[in-house]
Amino acid sequence: MAEEIKLDLSGSKEVRYEMIYPQIKALVDGEIDLVANLANVCAALKGAFGFFWVGFYLVREDGYVLGPFQGPVACTRIPLGKGVSGAACESGRPLIVPNVDEFPGHIACSAHTRSEIVVPMFKDGKLFAALDVDSDKLDDFDEVDAKWLEKIAGLL
Ligand code: SME
Repeated sequence: MAEEIKLDLSGSKEVRYEMIYPQIKALVDGEIDLVANLANVCAALKGAFGFFWVGFYLVREDGYVLGPFQGPVACTRIPLGKGVSGAACESGRPLIVPNVDEFPGHIACSAHTRSEIVVPMFKDGKLFAALDVDSDKLDDFDEVDAKWLEKIAGLL
């Protein structure tokens, strides 16, 4: 059944996250397929925030492989430990990069990306994916994004 995400686009970032979190929870709670859930989470986040790029990288033995996303085409594979994704996955904590040009090793999938946040995702204590959000504006992510994106990632 199709679902509709209700949004108050005039609300602050915190209010928007508060509003979409229970809706995303309801959406994924009713579905066991990971790919379907990742795809819908991308769509919900893109709709709520208009992110330039939002998507998932899935952890494989030899690197991170592009999963469901919304936005311009992106790098298909990232070597283990490389880029912002790799740094976040290795630290196990959300990583905010206010200016990608100042992050050594940043992997530029799009020349338009100026800032980025990556949230590692764990299942039963094991890293299985990373949620990656890119902005075409400098310094576009903060602790509010980190807190809520980590909560949303925890639903998957
Ligand atoms: N910039 C990322 C690569 C993925 S794209 O942003 C979609 C990185 O350095 O890990």
